[in-house]
Amino acid sequence: MIPSDFVDDLLSRIDIVDVISDYVPLKKGGQNYVACCPFHKEKTPSFTVAPNKQFYHCFGCGAHGSAIGFLMEYAHLSFADAVEKLANRIGMRVPHTQNRETHQEREEKKRQRVSLVDYMVQCANFYHKQLALSTRAQDYLRNRGLNAEIVSRFSLGYAPAQWQALQNIFDDYPSKDLISSGMVLEKEGRYYDRFRDRIMFPIRDVTGQVVAFGGRILDSGEPKYLNSPETPIFNKGSHLYGLYEARADIRQEHKVVVVEGYMDVVALAQHNIGYAVATLGTATTSEHIRLLFRQTDTIYFCFDGDTAGRKSAWRALENSLSQLQDDKGIYFLFLPPEHDPDSYVREYGSEFFSGSLKKDSIPLSRYWLNELMRDIDTNTQEGRAELIHRATPHLSEIKAVNLKYLLTQNLAQTVGMDIADIQYLLGQQLPVKKHTYRKARFPNKTFRQPRLSTLAQQQIKWLLINPKWEKYVEMPEYLLLSEEYAILAELSALIRENNLSSTEQVWENLRNHEYEEVLHRIWCENAKISEEFGELDEDDEIMFRQGMQRLALTIRDEQVNELVAKSKYQSLTATEQELLKNLLIRN
Ligand code: UTP
Ligand code: MN
Repeated sequence: MIPSDFVDDLLSRIDIVDVISDYVPLKKGGQNYVACCPFHKEKTPSFTVAPNKQFYHCFGCGAHGSAIGFLMEYAHLSFADAVEKLANRIGMRVPHTQNRETHQEREEKKRQRVSLVDYMVQCANFYHKQLALSTRAQDYLRNRGLNAEIVSRFSLGYAPAQWQALQNIFDDYPSKDLISSGMVLEKEGRYYDRFRDRIMFPIRDVTGQVVAFGGRILDSGEPKYLNSPETPIFNKGSHLYGLYEARADIRQEHKVVVVEGYMDVVALAQHNIGYAVATLGTATTSEHIRLLFRQTDTIYFCFDGDTAGRKSAWRALENSLSQLQDDKGIYFLFLPPEHDPDSYVREYGSEFFSGSLKKDSIPLSRYWLNELMRDIDTNTQEGRAELIHRATPHLSEIKAVNLKYLLTQNLAQTVGMDIADIQYLLGQQLPVKKHTYRKARFPNKTFRQPRLSTLAQQQIKWLLINPKWEKYVEMPEYLLLSEEYAILAELSALIRENNLSSTEQVWENLRNHEYEEVLHRIWCENAKISEEFGELDEDDEIMFRQGMQRLALTIRDEQVNELVAKSKYQSLTATEQELLKNLLIRN
């Protein structure tokens, strides 16, 4: 852990232009430096480094960040390593609140991983051989409809009904590593095998390396499945059963089916559906989705038709949101409640199953809205508000720009709101930042004497006096505005939407408006201008226009600074990235 004030300090002392020019030849272009983007292929430079903001941004691919972010992206360093590297550059020492692992510790971990992997391979071979020796285990698999080819495709095995069968293959039983591998357990000084008298499903990583096992009991008993624990080489959230075995079929079929059970994967393969994988008794994680989208563009979730299956599907959806991409698709197929994929394909056959995937699955977008609306009455205001309340956190997570827009639009239509308003609400839910906007100057109730005549107040006042000047109000795009600016934006929207042309009309429309009181005060307090406004002339109009332009620049700057500051500590959401890009383009 590196203290964040150190990071602040570090960033304030280094120059991003210096750092980046070590890797990328930068050319001065106006205030900024430009180059061909190192993160994507291009012929004309759209990679920009802004020294005054200590920030880089590529208008082509959207890559952006601080000097730290650059090193992370470009040199593939971890956050800690990037900070270390920058600190070394200017001779600062990185304080750590916790000790980093030593060289020795790292080496020991490496050695242990190699050793665990070796144990797993030997176990898998052993169990596979034991299967050939057990007619009972073979019968079980046959009764479940599996033939020899499938058994060998998945290297299924059998753990004999002995307490220490693994002693047969490991001279060092029970070594420390064997215990770390999860294959051997210790109880009161006695050691014994974790898996006994079970059908063994080796779990491989993407390279084919066995990293864990699942073991099914042969008759009915508890627990039905036993799994390897998390070990230095096995993590349930990032491995998928059957992915290695399925990879060729996934590529060929351009899709993958995610199911819940080991047996589902194996049974589907037995029926020529070779592109199925299973989670490992846990929810589908974002990591899983990322892993799958590296192999294919289309993911089908096919869970049991019961309540548990529906729950799993919803979890899968929630964890998919951050991984959605505009050119990739996620679908859900719900089976009848009495079925799981295994029983379903056995009953109806493979053609029917693949037909169901195509015909009966629903796209994530539809499932999402349907499920959110499940117990909501969208005919009431309360119901619609609740729906927006449920939906917006999800929308905020989506980075796929087009999909996000379409889902937002869908939601907007459903609740009868303007899409822009929902986008605004999305913006409001952004995390609150450290360096906040200038504090709101007019908290509604506790309003005290405003400082006279800030530019924003003058503009507001002029607008109240001459609503027709609304045509000069041009706010930059924004996510959050400090209150003065929000009032100006709101007032001009009110004038525009109601086509108001006189001061009286404006006041009429402001009756009981949340800003009525504040506007009234601005009107009264800024007496000076109103006296001058006996007659408005062309000069005033020009002043108003210029004031508006100045204000827009200020607002834009504030927002850019805000986003840049935020991006140093966390990645920007798609909305924020998009906004930043737009703001910078028009700078
Ligand atoms: P299921 O009970 O649906 O398994 O659990 P299944 O694959 O259909 O098994 P069969 O058909 O009865 O043989 C789905 C998954 O949940 C995990 C396993 O990963 C299993 O494949 N699970 C289930 C466990 O980890 N432990 C259990 O006791 C049960
Ligand atoms: Mn089953």
